[in-house]
Amino acid sequence: MTAFPFLISLAFCYFAGIALYRLFFHPLHKFPGPVLAAITDWYEVYYNLVLGGEFVAEIERLHKLHGPVIRVGPNTLHFNDRRAYHDIYSNGTTLIKEPQFYRAIMPHAPESSFSFSDPQQSKNRRSLLAPSFSRQAVMKLEYTIQNKIDQLVTLLEEHYNSAESGVKLSIAYRCLTTDLITEYCFANSADTLSDPNFTHPIALETQNIVKRMWIQIYFPFIFLFVARIPQELILWLFPKFITLMDVKARFEQQIDSFISNPEDLVIAEHETIYHHLLEPKDPELRPSRTSLVHEAFLLVAAGSDTVGHACTVGTYFALQSHSIHRRLVEELREAWPDKDRPLSFIALEKLPYLSAFVKEAIRLSIGTLHPTPRVVGDETPEIAGLKIPPGTIVGMSTYFMLMNPEVFRDPYTFNPDRWLVEGTSEMMLDFVPFSKGPRQCVGLNLAWSELYLIFGNIFRKLDLSLVGETAEVDLNLGKVSDYFVPFWEKSQYKAYVKQVYN
Ligand code: HEM
Repeated sequence: MTAFPFLISLAFCYFAGIALYRLFFHPLHKFPGPVLAAITDWYEVYYNLVLGGEFVAEIERLHKLHGPVIRVGPNTLHFNDRRAYHDIYSNGTTLIKEPQFYRAIMPHAPESSFSFSDPQQSKNRRSLLAPSFSRQAVMKLEYTIQNKIDQLVTLLEEHYNSAESGVKLSIAYRCLTTDLITEYCFANSADTLSDPNFTHPIALETQNIVKRMWIQIYFPFIFLFVARIPQELILWLFPKFITLMDVKARFEQQIDSFISNPEDLVIAEHETIYHHLLEPKDPELRPSRTSLVHEAFLLVAAGSDTVGHACTVGTYFALQSHSIHRRLVEELREAWPDKDRPLSFIALEKLPYLSAFVKEAIRLSIGTLHPTPRVVGDETPEIAGLKIPPGTIVGMSTYFMLMNPEVFRDPYTFNPDRWLVEGTSEMMLDFVPFSKGPRQCVGLNLAWSELYLIFGNIFRKLDLSLVGETAEVDLNLGKVSDYFVPFWEKSQYKAYVKQVYN
């Protein structure tokens, strides 16, 4: 026998052995699911990479077929059971973030709050971020948020005031949220709103990161390789990386300037996130320069796209429904007679219809659709009444919580009224767009505040209208695959300012 056929037979036997083990002897072999998924993780890769993010749709189909617990990878279980969501995500010590996934999703920011799997490392970093994201701290930022929103409102008034000039609100909102989070990080905003065409590289790069997500997750070595080769060569091979390089250079410059001139922090117009990161009470916790740069990448990505998308989704539904739009405008006009004097976040929060509207916008925009994976430890208690073998990767996409028809009746309908009835405590318990427990979203107070202020100002000041055919855009409606990646393509509707309210 020559070497080549021998090697082929050897490889065949090896893979057949692994497949047999995974099918019949693996600790998860009794859980239902497709044979292919039990044998290989490429099952998931196929749906996400080849079919453009359809894995959650496939998971939904499999749950209908096999019940609330399914095996979606050789070592991975997915749940569709609200008890399981609470069991998995409330528990941050015996169930940790699955390191490979989290390193892959942000390959250019492995040393950031989001990417840490180790509970102690995460706790340390969160302790530095927490003071910037408390409700009190966020309220101090209100003046800055209001100024940026005013800038966007003026820009829309001046440049997008006819159906022919319609603007893609998805990118306009992302520019606003990018300016807000960069301002909060550094007291020096990226100023993407200075370009009325909304084509600033940072705003575009945030979108690119989301678009590249699947390639990053499944082939992280490409990005690790890119990080190690000389910059000139990368740009020659992949000219599109120029924006990422520029963004990185910008963050590095900003952080270096803080490190060498700490007095810049003192004279900043408002407190920044980097005040706390650079001058922790316990100096031992001060992150390295690399980690500070990684944190900037993470904060800008996490803080801009999520809120920007919720604004895009909420505005779309308001403009699509005459009744929702009218009720929002009426409530705001009554509570806020003189629109030239800002109305505070606290006052906006008290408006019942606006509050219900904000919740629906967050619910239907589903910040993280892909299940966020956790690894079961030796001490992990039962999940939804089941003892799961240690080492198993478990997860439950927020989609199955936010679209659960048993809790949110008629879940695909954007219906603020669902929040305006007595007894919403069950919905509130399962309203988990920011996840739960020790790894829940750090920025949730900032997100709420931005959403109230943005929607409040937009609907109080501008009479927006959808442009022509885009009024037909099918933003969600009916099944999971309509929601999602590439969800930004579905939210590319255009709108314009029909009139400016008094
Ligand atoms: C509507 C807006 C938002 C939604 C729906 C959202 C959702 C989430 C979710 C579900 C997680 C947990 C992800 C996981 O377990 O893997 C998360 C984590 C995180 N979010 Fe948000 N987020 C939003 C806005 C923001 C904002 C404005 C910031 C501010 C920069 C932010 C910063 C973070 C950070 C730093 C983490 C990592 C926390 C950790 O791993 O310990 N998010 N977010």
